[in-house]
Amino acid sequence: MKPIVKKISLGMLAVFVGMQFYKPTMNISEGETTAFFEAETMPPAPILETLKTNCYDCHSNNTNYPWYHQVAPVSYFIDAHIQDGKKHLNFSDWESFSTKKKDHKIEELIEEVGEGEMPLKSYTLIHGNISEDQVKGLIAWGERNRVFYEYRMKYKEGPSQE
Ligand code: HEC
Repeated sequence: MKPIVKKISLGMLAVFVGMQFYKPTMNISEGETTAFFEAETMPPAPILETLKTNCYDCHSNNTNYPWYHQVAPVSYFIDAHIQDGKKHLNFSDWESFSTKKKDHKIEELIEEVGEGEMPLKSYTLIHGNISEDQVKGLIAWGERNRVFYEYRMKYKEGPSQE
């Protein structure tokens, strides 16, 4: 190896090793569950399974990490998606949402899933995408919940909640 190549390689190795000391805080909060969301929206077993294995990793307070998450810079990349996903939609916080917000988030869910935007591309590349049936199931379950939320806004809470 030419000395310059060796120097560059060693430099890169040092950066890589150095990176390993900075670990993003893991998205794991025991006790902060999606139980309320599930009790209220009542996903049938296969839908719940889809949410658990394809959505909660980025949209709840508990991520099921792959082993390679330990390795920087992959860990930074994954963490950025989790933080961004949770900022937009966190199923662990469902209880604190107004009916209007819940209705809107489900509306977004139907849209994103229907257009094939969710789960995120970078995620499906590794985990595989959800099937046509899973998409249909999520949409049907979503529509049902929207009927419930719209009803609640119209008759139970009155227009003041709008
Ligand atoms: C790898 C992380 C990741 C996974 C897995 C994932 N999402 Fe997302 N999601 C994001 C990010 C990041 C955003 C915000 C940026 C965007 O909209 O592209 C987002 C945005 C959304 C939004 C829009 C929320 C709003 O009001 O702006 C919905 C709805 C959503 N995701 C639903 C889902 C569903 C349903 C699944 C599972 C089928 C899923 N996501 C899987 C990362 C993820």
